Amino acid sequence: MASEAQSQTTKYDPNFTRSVVNSMGPKVPPRLRKVLDSLIQHLHDFARENEITVDEWMAAVELLNECGRMSDDKRNEGQLLCDVLGLESLVDEITYKMVTEANDLPTATAILGPFWRKDAPKRQMGDSIVMNKIEDGDHTFMYGQVTDYTTGEPIEGAELDVWHTAPNGLYEQQDPDQPDMNLRGRFTTGKDGKFWFYCLRPTSYPIPFDGPAGRMIQLMDRHPYRPAHIHFIIKAPGYKPLVTQIFDRRDKYVTNDSVFAVKDSLIVDFLPRNGDPKAEFELPYDFKLASFEQAKKSGVSGTTAPSASL
Ligand code: BEZ
Ligand code: FE
Repeated sequence: MASEAQSQTTKYDPNFTRSVVNSMGPKVPPRLRKVLDSLIQHLHDFARENEITVDEWMAAVELLNECGRMSDDKRNEGQLLCDVLGLESLVDEITYKMVTEANDLPTATAILGPFWRKDAPKRQMGDSIVMNKIEDGDHTFMYGQVTDYTTGEPIEGAELDVWHTAPNGLYEQQDPDQPDMNLRGRFTTGKDGKFWFYCLRPTSYPIPFDGPAGRMIQLMDRHPYRPAHIHFIIKAPGYKPLVTQIFDRRDKYVTNDSVFAVKDSLIVDFLPRNGDPKAEFELPYDFKLASFEQAKKSGVSGTTAPSASL
């Protein structure tokens, strides 16, 4: 007996999808042809299997159009919609997964998210990225080392670009009350690969949910919260840029991230810090990078940072 999906797919013109795929001309480059072929096939199968009606399709088109209308240089609603559907985390895994026989692995990647800003201020080791006086923040001393994951050697000249939200759950570009570039900074390692700076222990926060991505979350009967995290991009000459986040183990959303970005190896412990008037907590964490060569050998498909502008 034919399954329900089979009977739904066979009752429609069996040649239609092929005719759309075959409409592509000879100048389409091979990768684009392969991806479009597959996209058309999956989209058509999806519509047939679910018997999508004109009204349902139009509602989806309107959702996408609304994403466009809501997006500007401070908000990327299309990316947010992908995030709540797990797509950014999936393409991050596809792009950076390393298949390696070495005992060790480079630090795991995690999604960039929509709140990174180019040209964060360059700061001296030991500086704080907290630019306003925040009484309610848990000041934290973060420190560690950037090393080559295969040799364990320290990496000199590695730049750590770091950013996180204020205790009110907002990034500075979302919040007119924070100074420009608050809670952001770039630090460059010396010969020993070591870094140290002050930041805040981050808090969990809801992703913006007043638009289509928020409506999708509601339709799926989910919450919009991300577990407390700090973002990093680490770049060093000859090494594959690392885009990642570290997550506070104590956060109640660490097992339930609204954008599916948490990996076990990125969960960290904030420890009490004694004798430092500038911080109540300390956070040790080391980053291990893969050289371009190692990344290529291990089958990583993306050997550049996720955005051409990084
Ligand atoms: C973020 O971590 O900044 C983020 C990631 C995905 C969606 C919204 C925010
Ligand atoms: Fe974030």
